[in-house]
Amino acid sequence: MSLTRNEIIEILKNPVAESTSFSDVDNSLFTAATATARALFNNTVYQRGIIEFSSYCRKNCHYCGLRNKNTDLVRYRLTHDEIMQAVDNAASIGMGTIVLQAGEDEDVNPHFIYTIVRTIKEKYNLAVTLSIGDHPDDVYRLWRDSGADRYLLKIETTDTDLHSLYRPGQQLYDRLNRIESLQRLGYEVGSGIIIGLPGMTEENLTDDLLLLSTMGLDMIACGPFIPHPQTPLRHAKQGSLVESLRVTALLRLLNPAANIPATSALDSLPSGCNNNGRIMGLNAGANVIMPSITPDEVRSRYSIYPGKNSPASTQHSAVKQLQSKVQQAGFTLSSQAGSSMRRTFGTQSAI
Ligand code: 5AD
Ligand code: SF4
Repeated sequence: MSLTRNEIIEILKNPVAESTSFSDVDNSLFTAATATARALFNNTVYQRGIIEFSSYCRKNCHYCGLRNKNTDLVRYRLTHDEIMQAVDNAASIGMGTIVLQAGEDEDVNPHFIYTIVRTIKEKYNLAVTLSIGDHPDDVYRLWRDSGADRYLLKIETTDTDLHSLYRPGQQLYDRLNRIESLQRLGYEVGSGIIIGLPGMTEENLTDDLLLLSTMGLDMIACGPFIPHPQTPLRHAKQGSLVESLRVTALLRLLNPAANIPATSALDSLPSGCNNNGRIMGLNAGANVIMPSITPDEVRSRYSIYPGKNSPASTQHSAVKQLQSKVQQAGFTLSSQAGSSMRRTFGTQSAI
């Protein structure tokens, strides 16, 4: 489907229904997006298990609880064996992909990651995604050589001023260059944005959507901003559920073949989603879930935003509960890798 910049802005500026149900305009948007997803994926939902293996980070993004200056956070780093135990667990509960995610931890040697990926690839027929931030090209190459299939590097916002405001010392063009390097190295590459950072307008979001849809991405993610009490944005307003669902649906319409996750942040909104946000994401055109499979001993300390990995539920019960909700909502869970359809269908962007 092709949509102009003005049409997208208009959709994003539509008033939000007062009641708990969506407006007719939103319902037709979500129906069109679901139909587009169904045409390529049927009702299949791919499962990527995330192992959050280190909560150390050298950076200071204003929105994120893992920021280096958050001295209240008790940090952790998993060992090789602990990560492999989590991988074994992920394989046994049907994940088709392992996502290794962490802050930018300077004390993790690139060869540590290399060995982990090799070990996973030798033991299992699982896809491996890395989500560990900014590194030099030779490190990205080393990890690609280890067998890593995918890399996830979010741009967060395409507005250059907001980008450098909320990601101190970081420039949007550096991030875009890194994404191109990863693509040249043969990774399937994912990127995405946060919805509703303070100061973000519908025009900004539209530009985000349009840029993301021309980058040849294999995966695109968007999740609502959730204020974290130990960050400079502690008093800011949370991102909107409806806006996040609209962006998910628009991403699907603009990128029919992309993998689009129903992000965990949709379920963690303190108000508005009734813990059903990820199902709403699937009903707005998403085709992937990414449950945390980080061990219980540490998972609540991976505190990017409040409610990320609820301390009230164990990893096992949280995944089981999510899996049954997805099935009850009429989707079929897949344990396949769910590799990029873009590789099969050529360029996916419809703009
Ligand atoms: N709210 C929502 N998403 C966040 N992220 C980081 N902090 C927040 C927050 N407060 C997202 C960013 C980052 C990913 C690891 O988590 O998109 O890339
Ligand atoms: Fe570190 Fe990523 Fe959080 Fe930024 S968003 S502080 S890079 S973990």
